[in-house]
Formats: sequence, structure tokens, C-alpha cells
Amino acid sequence: MQNPIRNIHVLLVEDSPADICFIEKAFSKPNSYSHTYSFSITIARTLEEAVKALEENGIDVVLLDLSLSDSAGIETFRKIHNQFPELPVVVLTAALDDSLATGTLKEGAQSYIVKKDVTPACLIRTIFDSIERNKLKIEAEDLTIMGVHELKSPLAVIKESSLQLLEGLHGEISPIQRKMIQMTFDCAQRLEKLVGDLLAVAKIEMGRMTLSLSDVDISELAGKIAEEFRPIISKNKLALKESIPENKILVKADAERISQVIANLLHNALNFTNGGFIEIKVYEKDKFAVVSVTDTGIGIAQSDLAKVFGKFQQFSTHKDRCEKGSGLGLYICKNIVELHGGQISVESIPFKGSAFKFTVPKA
Ligand SMILES: Nc1ncnc2c1ncn2[C@@H]1O[C@H](COP(=O)(O)OP(=O)(O)O)[C@@H](O)[C@H]1O
Ligand SMILES: [Mg+2]
Repeated sequence: MQNPIRNIHVLLVEDSPADICFIEKAFSKPNSYSHTYSFSITIARTLEEAVKALEENGIDVVLLDLSLSDSAGIETFRKIHNQFPELPVVVLTAALDDSLATGTLKEGAQSYIVKKDVTPACLIRTIFDSIERNKLKIEAEDLTIMGVHELKSPLAVIKESSLQLLEGLHGEISPIQRKMIQMTFDCAQRLEKLVGDLLAVAKIEMGRMTLSLSDVDISELAGKIAEEFRPIISKNKLALKESIPENKILVKADAERISQVIANLLHNALNFTNGGFIEIKVYEKDKFAVVSVTDTGIGIAQSDLAKVFGKFQQFSTHKDRCEKGSGLGLYICKNIVELHGGQISVESIPFKGSAFKFTVPKA
């Protein structure tokens, strides 16, 4: 019995009629795969049309010209890839040494082809190749995400058992035993935070961090997190100031991710402040809500300021030495804020203090 013919649905994003005609012709020529595969082609002439076609699903691969009437350059690729990270994209270009096209490979495009050189065989081979390689890439990414995720449950068990021992649930423990078990608990807690951060970074780098957006009252959210920090801030002999309006400020946000950003900023303020206060403010500015966290801590040198939002960047030791940090917190914050369409920034004076602030679009 003959294998059924599998149809491959190609989205051709291209606005030049001559190029559309040329590529369509290449597909329609008989080729060595014709007996096992057929191709159906949807044409989108603008980025908007492309996104609409992709939302309707069923596309296997995108052939993408980067310069369209409503988007140009690498941005065209980014907009498609950010919204549909699991789809293979082949970039169409005019010249072989096009640095723009090779740049898209670094950001996740599967391949690129030079329009004027394209033959039916080369086009079809590139498409098969891209679909296959993309499948392998997604499998490897799933494995990484699942693997890191798997570390969470044994860590939770270590934490819970040591906590039970510390609480004396299984009999009395000697001072030296308490010290050892406390150390176990602290390390498990640190590892748990690190695993969470690594998972977030992996998702960011794979373009697979997703937001579940809803209307969130940022005044209430910030107030709640600040109150959760109040005991530990007091314990560190610092004052907590809150300047949060009574009224609701609704933003379009993923409440859990934005909580993570606020908690990270407060945590940093706590870690790098020896005396004085930490202040959290929420206010409105144009179409955005702004959240700021200011401290009277050790500050950051001017030369390091530009680097604080980078990966694995650390410029000073944490106050609490057993909590070393990973240098990933602010990198994650920046990515979460930007995914929401906001911006994060910092101002700081060494030995005076730092002020971090970020914006989130209002609902
Ligand atoms: N409020 C702050 N005051 C002073 N330095 C800070 C503050 N927040 C961040 N930093 C500096 O930026 C670095 C990166 O912060 P972050 O990404 O949160 O990593 P981590 O807290 O794990 O070290 C810190 O190690 C520290 O040097
Ligand atoms: Mg941190």
C-alpha cells in the first residue's frame, strides 16, 4: 500500500508580487518528494496578515521576508518568533552576505534562503530540514525544562524533613545537630530559589516564558508584598515606608510574575542596605503604573549600573552571607517587565542608596 501524501502548510510572508510568483512556481514544479508530500501555501502580505494566519493554526513553517509595509528588519522576525516561538521560520533574503538574515539565525530562525538563487529542490530541502531541526530543538528544550523542574520535588522533601527535625517533631536534637540541620534547610532553600531562577532563565532564553494576563490592582498587589516583607525588614533594623495610593490602579499583568519582580527588588534592597529605610511607591504616569523601590544601602558604582540587568552580574557580597544569590534576579525582572511592555531602570549613588523603578501598562 502506498503511504498517504502528507500536506505541509507553508505561510509565505512576502509583499513583492514578483517574488510571490517565483516562490509559488518553485513549489508547483514536480520534485522528488511529490509522491509523499504536498504543499499548500497561504500568502500574507503584511505582518498583521501573517499574525492573523498563524493564530488560525495549522501552519507548519513560515517563509519570511523581513521588509514589509508594516514592519522592517529583524523586528519582523522577532515579532513572529516571540509570539509563536515553537514554529520554524525560514528567512527570505536578497543577498548571501546579508548580516540581517544571519542575525536572525542567532535569535532562533531555522535557516535563510537567498531568493534569486532559490531552486525548487533547495527550497523544499530547506523546508524539510527546518521542520525536522525545529522538532529536535523543541524536544531538547522540553527535556531541559522538565529536567530542571524535576529537581523541585526532592528539594521540597529535604526542606520539609529538616524543618520537622528542627521543630522537634521527631524528638529532641542536640545543639550541634540543630546547627547541621539548619544548614541543610538553608541550603535546600537556596537551591530551591536557584532552580526557580534557572527555570525562568531557560524559558526566557527559549522565548517560552508566557504570561497569563488579567486586570490586576497593582496598588493592592504591591501593598500585600510589602507587608509580607515587613517582619524581615524590621528584623534587619530597617524602616519600611509605603507610598501606595488607596485607590485601585488596574494594570494588564501576570500577577504572579509581577509579584516576583516586586519581591526581587525588595529582597535586593534588604540584602544591600545596612541602615536607614526601604521605600516602596506606586503611582500613575500617562498610560503606565510605576512601581519604585528605593533604599539607603551601599549603592552601585556608576560603571556597574549598565550591567546590573545582565545575567550572572554581581558587584557586592550579600549582607546575609549564607544567601549568596545567583546574579540572575534582575535579569529575570527585566525580561518579565519587558514582556509586559514596560521598562525597568535604576539610579544609584554609592554609599547613599539605590532606586529601582519599573512600569506596567494600565488596563
Ligand atoms: N538595591 C541594591 N543595592 C545595591 N546593589 C544592588 C541592589 N540591587 C542589586 N544590586 C547589585 O546588582 C547585582 C545583581 O542583582 P541580582 O540580579 O538581583 O542578583 P543577586 O541578588 O542574586 O546578586 C547584585 O549582586 C548587586 O551587586
Ligand atoms: Mg537579587
